[in-house]
Amino acid sequence: MFENQQVASDSEADRVIMFDTTLRDGEQMPGVALSAEQKVEIARNLAAVGVDVIEAGFPAASPAEFAAVQAVSRSVEGATICALARCVESDVAAALAATQGAKRRRIHVFIGVSPIHRQAKLRMTPEQVMQRAVAAVTQARAHCDDVQFSAEDATRAETPFLQQICAAAIDAGATTINIPDTVGYTEPWEYQAMMETLIATVPHGSHVRFSTHCHNDMGLATANTLAGVRGGARQVEVAINGFGERAGNAALEEVGVAISARAERFGVTHGVQMAGIYTLSQRAYAAFGAPIPPNKAVVGGNAFAHESGIHQHGVMCDARTYEAFTPQSVGREAHQMALGKHSGRHAFHARMAALGINFPSADEWRWAFDHFKQMAERQGEVNDAGLIALARSLAPS
Ligand code: KIV
Ligand code: ZN
Repeated sequence: MFENQQVASDSEADRVIMFDTTLRDGEQMPGVALSAEQKVEIARNLAAVGVDVIEAGFPAASPAEFAAVQAVSRSVEGATICALARCVESDVAAALAATQGAKRRRIHVFIGVSPIHRQAKLRMTPEQVMQRAVAAVTQARAHCDDVQFSAEDATRAETPFLQQICAAAIDAGATTINIPDTVGYTEPWEYQAMMETLIATVPHGSHVRFSTHCHNDMGLATANTLAGVRGGARQVEVAINGFGERAGNAALEEVGVAISARAERFGVTHGVQMAGIYTLSQRAYAAFGAPIPPNKAVVGGNAFAHESGIHQHGVMCDARTYEAFTPQSVGREAHQMALGKHSGRHAFHARMAALGINFPSADEWRWAFDHFKQMAERQGEVNDAGLIALARSLAPS
C-alpha cells in the first residue's frame, strides 16, 4: 500500500475533481506568456472558487516557467499544485523540485500512446513507450504520493495498448489516469464508451481516479468531458474560458455549470463555487490579453442578452422560459434586453418606462415603436441614447 492511499467513500465517488489547466495547457494559447506574478494571481483566484487541482505549468520548459511554478507552489493555498513532466528523468526531477514548497502537490507525467505519436514523434516501440511511462511514474512516486499519468492522444490509440499502459502506470503508483482527447478527435458516445471500457477492464483500486482531458478542435470539448463523466471519470481537466492549444480545452465555466445545473441528471457534484466564475473569467481574459467572444457560453456578453420579441416577452413573464440557469448563479448581475429589429413591444415599452419616457396616447406609442423598428433595421441594436433621441423627436417643439 502506498503512503496516504485513500479509499474513496460513496460521497467522494460522486464528487468530480476539478483540475484546472489554465496555467499550463491554457497558457499554450498562441501569443500568451504569463509572468510568475500573473500565474500566482490567477492560481489564487482559482483556489478561491474551490478548484481542487491547479496545474501551474511545465517546469522543464524554461527557467522562467520553473520559477513561476515554484512561486505558485510556495504562495497558493487551498488547492493541490500540479506540475507537468514528459516521461523523461530530468523533466520529472524539475517538476519535483519546482513543487517542493507546495502544501499539497501532484506530479503529472505524460507520453504519447497512439501509433502516430509513437512512430512519428517519439520513434519508439510500444514496449519502449511502456517502459518510459513506468520509469517516470516510479520516479515521481518515490517522492510524491499523488502522481498522475496521461496517455497522450489516447483516443487515437489501440484499446489493448491503452489498457496495458494504464494498468502498468497504476502498478507503478499512478493515482490518477488521464485519458486525453489530444486533438479533439472523439465524439461523446465514443468517449463515454472508452471511459467505461477502461474503468471496467484496467485493474485499479478505489484510490485511482480516471480523468477527462478534452480539446475543442471540433467544438466538442465540453460535450466529450460530460460524456466522460457519464462513463465514470471523476476528474475533469478544464481551463477557464476554454483557453488552450489551438481551439482550446473544455471550459471550466461550461463544464461546471452543466454539472451544477443538471446535478440530478448527472448524479455527481463538484466543489467549484460557480458564483465566483464570472469575475475569474474576466480577470483571466485580461491577463491573457484575449478578446471576449460575445457569444461565449456562460461568460460572453450575449450569454444572457435577449433580442427577439418572443424571447423577451417570455423572459419578462418568467426568465426560465429562455434561460437554462440564472445569471446570478454564475456571478453575473442580470440579463439584458437587447433592442433590435426582432424585438417586440413588451421590451420596448419596458425600456422606455425605465428611461422615464411615456407617451400619452396609443397612437404615439405606435408611432414611436414603428420608428424604433426602422432605426433597428438600419443600425442593429438601438441603445438608450437612440431611444431618448426618438422620444425627443416626438415631443412638441
Ligand atoms: O492534450 C494533451 O494530451 C495534454 C497532455 C499533456 C495531458 O495536454
Ligand atoms: Zn491538452
